[in-house]
Amino acid sequence: MARILITSAIPYINGIKHLGNLVGSQLPADLYARYARARGHEVLFLCATDEHGTPAELAAAKAGMPVADYCAEMWQVQKRLSDGFRLSFDHFGRSSSPQNHRLTQHFAGRLADNGLIEERSERQVYSNADGRFLPDRYIEGTCPNCGYDRARGDQCENCTKQLDPTDLIEPRSAISGSTDLEVRETKHLYLLQSRLRDDLRDWIDRQEGWPVLTTSIARKWLDDGDGLQDRGITRDLDWGVPVRRGDRDWPGMEGKVFYVWFDAPIEYIACAGEWADAQELSQSDWERWWRTDKGAENVRYVQFMGKDNVPFHTLSFPATLLGSGEPWKLVDYIKSFNYLTYDGGQFSTSQGRGIFMDQALELLPADYWRWWLLSHAPETSDSAFTWEAFQAGVNKDLADVLGNFVSRVTKFCRSRFGEVVPEGGEETPEDAALIAEISQKVAAYQDHMDAIQVRKAAAELRGIWVAGNEYLQAAAPWAAFKSDPARAAAIVRLSLNLVALYAGLSRPFIPDAAEAMAEAMGVAPEWPEDVAAALHRLPPGAAFRTPDNLFRKVADDERDAWQARFSGGAA
Ligand code: 2FM
Ligand code: ZN
Repeated sequence: MARILITSAIPYINGIKHLGNLVGSQLPADLYARYARARGHEVLFLCATDEHGTPAELAAAKAGMPVADYCAEMWQVQKRLSDGFRLSFDHFGRSSSPQNHRLTQHFAGRLADNGLIEERSERQVYSNADGRFLPDRYIEGTCPNCGYDRARGDQCENCTKQLDPTDLIEPRSAISGSTDLEVRETKHLYLLQSRLRDDLRDWIDRQEGWPVLTTSIARKWLDDGDGLQDRGITRDLDWGVPVRRGDRDWPGMEGKVFYVWFDAPIEYIACAGEWADAQELSQSDWERWWRTDKGAENVRYVQFMGKDNVPFHTLSFPATLLGSGEPWKLVDYIKSFNYLTYDGGQFSTSQGRGIFMDQALELLPADYWRWWLLSHAPETSDSAFTWEAFQAGVNKDLADVLGNFVSRVTKFCRSRFGEVVPEGGEETPEDAALIAEISQKVAAYQDHMDAIQVRKAAAELRGIWVAGNEYLQAAAPWAAFKSDPARAAAIVRLSLNLVALYAGLSRPFIPDAAEAMAEAMGVAPEWPEDVAAALHRLPPGAAFRTPDNLFRKVADDERDAWQARFSGGAA
């Protein structure tokens, strides 16, 4: 048994996330957390809302609310949706928590003590039309690296280069579109992360088996001359973690806050503190996950994120941790994702294009989305959501293969033997062959899950469902029943045991259907450490209940209506 710390990139507080966001971090993280728990590991799975920065301030202003109230309300909304998608966080925290304030100020103090923070007078973009400084992402312009004309002041989403607002060519205010911008003098703190280049390179060189997507982005910015520039870590904003040096004031920094990308990853740690406080545990209970001098040397730490987040997690956050000189746990494996496209274009929050988490749950239960998204996770390249593909995946995999199998075997048994596992009939070579095939597929499925190969794992699980279906079709208990009822009983017994097995194996992907299958079979959904034994788990005479249909099909007219509704144009 291992101890596994799992974090998902923390979603911005402003607005409800779309399915592309979901499949790029929180959902695969949940899949892995559920799997690791099922295999008996001790898991701490953390996520939170990313609450600081200009976007939160602006969204609150738009909603006509004080920003603290807006964040508190949106946290509730996001929490309700993550529960709706069955995301099994041990704690869903908030980057605005007192724990994160303290820890962020602590790290800044340590970095300053270690000579890694410098005060610089800087010339910063001020928008006369908006009456405020325009930091980071609220300046748009052309990327000096790739020429993309809608690059943001903090990062170009086209080439992932981390930018400073003043790098942009032909900048404009993203708030008002105004180009009446001027540069004013203001003082800020800089993290001298370039001094940590060798430490970071050594650390990245030591990593084995990271996804190519992760290491290629990390190396690109490490090797690129200005990829590891010193970073401004403070901003002229009201909302955020006030700049302090540990628990002391920081003269000259009054009225400033830390940059959202400085405090957000620190929330991964603070969130463990929030978790411990919420559970009425002690400091040592969370430190054993995060401090290598307090037990975390035995922890495996896995992070999940979209590719645009990789530079911050391979360079900036490790720079904070290493630069502190304290024994904090560094990530062991970074699972990163490409993008999910929507119906031939991009998901767009501003245009209402695509499906957002709340809308998805209004249409269909979580399992439908979980299955389709995970089985099409954008791992090695971008992947495309289309309504046709979604309909086909749901109807084929869930309704025709899994749902149909469960329905056929339980209904047939009920009609011929009653709602108990039937006696009689020895296992045949046909049965033994199925058990061997399933055993081998489960081993492959576990390998893919251990390696966090999401699509391969989904394909293997589907194969396990298909094997049961094909077995039932070939063994045909309905035909055997006429000539050899004992043989029919044996087939049904093995098939009912398959339902119980599927409950345990499917639970990381489709937790609700797994619960329904297990409940119908009168067992808890358990991981089958020994497949052959698990397929004899339900003894003759055990009662079961014929479940309602597990999945319904998506009809053509619904699919067309949904496609029109979420196209964005009409909205
Ligand atoms: O890209 C995003 O959605 C960010 N809110 C992710 C932050 S992850 C971290 F650093 F905490
Ligand atoms: Zn670019």
